[in-house]
Amino acid sequence: MGVLAGLSGTVAELAARHERPIEELWFPNDLLGTFFNSLEEKSLALRERLEAIPGELRAALVLNLLTEEGLPHFHRLIALHMGEESPWNDWNNLWTAEESRHGDAIGKYVSKTGIIDDGALERMTYAYVRAGFHPNWGKDPYRLLAYTSLQEHATQISHAKLGTRLTPIEPVLGRLLHKIAGDEARHYAFYRNVFLNVLRADPDEALVSLLAVMRSFAMPGLSAPNFSAMAEIQERADLFTTSEYKKIVVTLIKFWNIPNLTPTSDAAKRTLDRIVQFPALLDRKIEGYANTKKTPKTFELGFLTHPITV
Ligand SMILES: [Fe+2]
Ligand SMILES: [Fe+2]
Repeated sequence: MGVLAGLSGTVAELAARHERPIEELWFPNDLLGTFFNSLEEKSLALRERLEAIPGELRAALVLNLLTEEGLPHFHRLIALHMGEESPWNDWNNLWTAEESRHGDAIGKYVSKTGIIDDGALERMTYAYVRAGFHPNWGKDPYRLLAYTSLQEHATQISHAKLGTRLTPIEPVLGRLLHKIAGDEARHYAFYRNVFLNVLRADPDEALVSLLAVMRSFAMPGLSAPNFSAMAEIQERADLFTTSEYKKIVVTLIKFWNIPNLTPTSDAAKRTLDRIVQFPALLDRKIEGYANTKKTPKTFELGFLTHPITV
């Protein structure tokens, strides 16, 4: 906590650099308002466009939406670990306001277009929020910062890849997902910079936290119904994959300049080596998935009208 208190100035400065005036922000209605009006006309071309969205992309969209809907838990975790008496409080409010538009925008889109069964989605969201999000961070705020660095980049990639796949089919949804990915990229820049400062100030402890988070990383929807099926669909449909996760880890090891940090204890030096070797360990998992993917698998999900094979 002493290290984090020493970073108060940095956090306030990074948050100030991050914030945009409200006139420059995007809002769901700016992107979707006209589109929703055109839905009223029920044009055949538009209906065909929506019908053409394949099941695996719908399932990935639901997973992305559910991830966003965990916002009350993420807000709580930041407040819990960082306290209310620091620039973190202001950052938490700013970040939450920005994130809140994500679930709002995707939720409105799926509800107005009817591309997902509303009732099934509402029940899944309820079960997910009700179950909570309990990452294994103990009382370690460094783990929160390591996790958010990885997670913001993961959501950025997940929204962006899905957006790219959807754009030729349904450009309005594609554009929306790219907008959201842009926000996640800016959140990622904030958290990775804060954690860079933590690593410089306290490499011995920060490295231990980082390794623990890298090894156990899972998207926050873990407790959501159908989470593992949807995560598998993302992997099989080449949306968010273990190979993408490996790229994230490699990028961050480089950005944080991990190999050149100089921890003092032998244990921390060994941890540093393990972090550097970690991406290679993911290769075995990636190869395993490559084999599994050769055999298509059928999934039945309550929010889709038909079973899908990926
Ligand atoms: Fe988000
Ligand atoms: Fe974000």
